[in-house]
Amino acid sequence: NKKHNLLEKVYQTNDLTKEEITDLLETITSEDREILYSNALKTKQTYYGNKVYLRGLIEFSNICRQDCLYCGIRASNAKVERYRLTPGEILACCDKGYELGYRTFVLQSGEDLWYTEELLGALIHEIKRRYYPEVAVTLSIGERRAETYQSLFASGADRFLMRHETASKKLYETLHPTMRFEDRRACLNALKEIGYQVGAGFMVGLPGQTLADLAEDLCYLKELHPDMIGIGPFIPHSETPLGAEKGGTIEDTLVMVALARLLIPDSLIPATTALGTLHPQGREMALKAGANVVMPIITPTSVRKQYALYENKICGDDHPEDCRYCIERRIQSVGFEVDLGRGDSQQFISWG
Ligand code: 5AD
Repeated sequence: NKKHNLLEKVYQTNDLTKEEITDLLETITSEDREILYSNALKTKQTYYGNKVYLRGLIEFSNICRQDCLYCGIRASNAKVERYRLTPGEILACCDKGYELGYRTFVLQSGEDLWYTEELLGALIHEIKRRYYPEVAVTLSIGERRAETYQSLFASGADRFLMRHETASKKLYETLHPTMRFEDRRACLNALKEIGYQVGAGFMVGLPGQTLADLAEDLCYLKELHPDMIGIGPFIPHSETPLGAEKGGTIEDTLVMVALARLLIPDSLIPATTALGTLHPQGREMALKAGANVVMPIITPTSVRKQYALYENKICGDDHPEDCRYCIERRIQSVGFEVDLGRGDSQQFISWG
């Protein structure tokens, strides 16, 4: 029948039209989901084998100038206790992370301009100097000028994560009163042009999001062809305007992870912390549905709970070493192997 043809087509050709994706999402059954997951897993194994890459995540500031409706650290949430790690504290996190075996550090924060281009440049330079040539530096600091992206790349940053959040212009504008849809895309294009390995991605189950919107997210990603794709469920945070809304489901998110693997087969796809928050085995389930990266937190325990983008975020009382070994056990429990290398994307390896 038609649907089995769509499942087979995406597995064989890594391609579907937006209409075909919407069609599939509208009629998908639990048996279809299992087929998608297992095909996505086989595709992941073809491109990346049984390895899962680890990234040490440092959430270095929860101060943010933006006011995204869904996000717990939005500027107008006066209930968050704000913090900034100093460059010395960030370097101490890297030392700890290096000791634990991480060879990628993800420096993530709210949009906090206290960290100037100069400060970040010096910090990146020092990280690259300390661990040269083993370590990759990933930035996840939101929107800046293209010249700043250029300068940070020159300082040694290798990768940049910036989810497009949603490919629906209408939904994007509703959710981001302080931002513009076109700016987001311009940033992603600039980052790619400069030579970063780029990560984009979106949330599943946003209020008002349709299946056609989700199909558009996948089509946009296929066209952008980023190195990394982060997909997580929307999880309501009570101190935001969306606090009373419904969140995304584990099934819907896993279907999007599997489709992302099938449509952009050479990408790196994290099993996100948000999936681990929704279900105790959410990340393991994502690894079995095509994900191949996990980003354990190495943020100091003293500030972890303050970096609450959504509620009930896991690992709030844990120490960096707890997360390191917990993740290794989880990865092994579903039959995969930890790879502590830099873990560059196949697209990057092929084309430099
Ligand atoms: N639920 C799930 N994900 C969220 N993010 C921000 N707020 C939430 C939330 N309430 C995601 C965004 C952002 C990433 C760092 O976290 O997609 O890009």
